[in-house]
Amino acid sequence: MYVLSYMELYNGDCLDILDTLQEKSVDILYTDPPYIPPQHSSTLTKYKKTLGEMGILESFYKNFIKQIDRVLKDDGILIIYCNSDSYPMFYIHLYPYVKKMRCFIWDKISCSLGYTFRHQHEMIICGERNSMKYIKCGTGDIFKYHAVKANTKTHPAEKPIDLHEHILKNIVNNDSVVLDTFMGTGSIGVACKKLECNYIGIELEHTYFKIAEERINT
Ligand SMILES: C[S@@+](CC[C@H](N)C(=O)[O-])C[C@H]1O[C@@H](n2cnc3c(N)ncnc32)[C@H](O)[C@@H]1O
Repeated sequence: MYVLSYMELYNGDCLDILDTLQEKSVDILYTDPPYIPPQHSSTLTKYKKTLGEMGILESFYKNFIKQIDRVLKDDGILIIYCNSDSYPMFYIHLYPYVKKMRCFIWDKISCSLGYTFRHQHEMIICGERNSMKYIKCGTGDIFKYHAVKANTKTHPAEKPIDLHEHILKNIVNNDSVVLDTFMGTGSIGVACKKLECNYIGIELEHTYFKIAEERINT
């Protein structure tokens, strides 16, 4: 019997929704969390910048990764978008839960004009669980895809669907369950729909949730 893939969408805090998901029910965590650091600039004149500022965020992600450990299968994989500030934190907290970590690069091909060394890439941390099987895809770990144009974006951090498809097509099949805990306007969900795999998307902000629902369900 052929079973159609499902799309489960939740509007809420991912830590609360994760609590309700079944143990070892997810194959792939593929998600794009808010980047850090917390805004220090407003207090920069009064207080010295310290690493302690990362504490609030760190404690959130520590809990988050513990929950992911509970729901993700032992042969699963985690793929999390980062920047140079958030990458070290994810590396440290993921370390006990995976056998191997890699850093992928999303190269946006071009950058806007301005000061020198303009930002043109994002980092993506990839962690393989202990029993994960070898991926036979033979592609490199630098992905060249244009960013979504500013005038067509519905979310400031919207990611291109073709980038998600490129990464996911090598690791999903029709039975795979992909979990996206920071769904935004649903670009990952749209890619999963195209790839005909199961998708669970969670988004805190109602406005973004509604846009994601519309994009994924139409
Ligand atoms: C970087 S954006 C994701 C953008 C998305 N990849 C897209 O293409 O539209 C991160 C999203 O996580 C959401 N978010 C932040 N904290 C959250 C939480 N605790 N639970 C669920 N979603 C959260 C934010 O509202 C934001 O929309």
